[in-house]
Amino acid sequence: MIYERISLRKFNTYGINVKADRLAAFKLEDNAVRFFRQHKETEQNYLVLGGGSNILFTGDFHGTIIHPEMEGIAMEGKSGSDIIVSAGAGVSWDNLVESTVKNGLGGLENMSLIPGCVGAVAVQNIGAYGVEVKDVIESVKAISLADGSIREFTGDECKFGYRDSVFKHELKGKYLITKILFRLSTRPKLCLEYGSLKDELSKLGSISLANIRKIVISTRQAKLPDPEQIGNAGSFFKNPLVSEAFLESVQKKYPKIPVFRDRSGGVKIPAGWLIEQCGWKGKRIGDAGIHEKQALVIVNHGNATGRELLDLSEKVRKSVADAFGIDLEREVEVI
Ligand code: EPU
Repeated sequence: MIYERISLRKFNTYGINVKADRLAAFKLEDNAVRFFRQHKETEQNYLVLGGGSNILFTGDFHGTIIHPEMEGIAMEGKSGSDIIVSAGAGVSWDNLVESTVKNGLGGLENMSLIPGCVGAVAVQNIGAYGVEVKDVIESVKAISLADGSIREFTGDECKFGYRDSVFKHELKGKYLITKILFRLSTRPKLCLEYGSLKDELSKLGSISLANIRKIVISTRQAKLPDPEQIGNAGSFFKNPLVSEAFLESVQKKYPKIPVFRDRSGGVKIPAGWLIEQCGWKGKRIGDAGIHEKQALVIVNHGNATGRELLDLSEKVRKSVADAFGIDLEREVEVI
């Protein structure tokens, strides 16, 4: 389906009302392949846009938005307790998590209720409560925008990092992800170490996939705004990685600073905490605001433009740089 001069308001969770010259939506992989082959010779400016839950538009988009709508969740194979499950790029992420949890397959439960569609999760390497999606991605199927050829990427080839992958660097804007295969398990290794997850679980009685999902959902709902009610794109910045020496210098002034140490020995300081220390939590300038319960989330209280939200984010970034000497890196993609 091709639409001309279409509003993108429903295609981004900030609800920004910009227009695109064209939007091409594909339910079938074959149709997408044909489209890219046909347009191979003509110069095209493409932007792949799934659920639009990690993007901020600051103006109209002059080019063609590619919107994947491939559906379907299927069991593809089994080896011992490992089960390979595939999902189309257009499947709502949380519908996939819900269905795997219902079927007793572990691996995705900590990532319950993250907004967006399956296609985007590999670009962004989404994560929550101690788990990143890279931990369970078996492979990623994609179509080249340049010529319609199909390629399957292994997890290694995706070069995953913290909210990062090859699709944000050398292959940025080059592929449309159509399907992802996940390696799940009927005997999963549960990850309960993040924050108060374990304590909350013990209140529910038994440790089960369904209970983990329940706790994650209630924790997210208590802190993070629902994009259906108030425009937002989750965490606006990444949590900065710092050295032990740098951390010690900050700890002198702020002994209670929260810290995460990851398996590779890196030290992360929560950006939300830094922003809160700078006094931004709950503040607003016009309709652009900092969420009152999670300072890492920049929200659209109604009719903020993309430019206004971006300007606010730059003010926040400057405050943190002035106060702590840390330059926050954006997580949300600005177009
Ligand atoms: N904190 C504050 N003030 C705030 C926000 C947080 O002091 O306004 C402190 C909290 O008290 C806590 C720490 O910072 O000690 C961490 O907060 P939280 O657990 O809310 O997580 P986060 O580091 O702010 C990250 C992810 C989220 C993910 C949560 C839970 C990034 C950029 N964000 O946030 O992911 O849901 O952990 O795992 O890594 C997203 O990527 O869009 C996203 C929402």
